[in-house]
Amino acid sequence: MINNISFRKANANDLSVLYQLDRLSDENFHWKLSFFNYQDLIKIAIIANQIVGFVVYQTTDVVEIFRITTRHNFKNQGVATALIEALKQLNKSIILELREGNLKAFQLYQKLGFEQIYRREKYYSNGENAKIMQFSIVN
Ligand SMILES: CC(C)(COP(=O)(O)OP(=O)(O)OC[C@H]1O[C@@H](n2cnc3c(N)ncnc32)[C@H](O)[C@@H]1OP(=O)(O)O)[C@@H](O)C(=O)NCCC(=O)NCCS
Repeated sequence: MINNISFRKANANDLSVLYQLDRLSDENFHWKLSFFNYQDLIKIAIIANQIVGFVVYQTTDVVEIFRITTRHNFKNQGVATALIEALKQLNKSIILELREGNLKAFQLYQKLGFEQIYRREKYYSNGENAKIMQFSIVN
């Protein structure tokens, strides 16, 4: 686990930076710029004054993750793990969906205690199936 990481909420000035970070990190399936217009829902991870990743999420009865991305040159160093561990501090169950072909993300979520609870056939516009995963808190 990286120990020099900090978090803050996004603000309007961050949104184009987050878009570029997402595009470089995930060339095929990155988000459109307009999807980032919800800065209140974005937690940013920072190392040495640089934005190294972010998570877009909403908190209701559960925490729902809409997008999580690590800067391309900071992958496999625990950034996404740290972001999800920060969300676990909210003490609610966490749900998310991902592309069936995203093995890396699937293995990461499994490692962090998520379980697949559902599969949606041909959910994405390219016909790919979605996996719904959940991290359950025990009350
Ligand atoms: C998926 C993503 C967020 C992971 O971020 P990350 O910061 O690299 O993740 P971490 O460093 O915390 O953890 C990486 C974990 O992924 C898994 N992993 C790493 N490399 C892998 C590989 N080549 N194959 C399979 N699994 C791998 C491991 O479980 C690893 O944990 P470990 O280092 O303890 O073994 C990042 O790759 C990313 O931004 N991808 C593009 C956007 C995306 O796909 N987002 C998820 C959409 S649901």
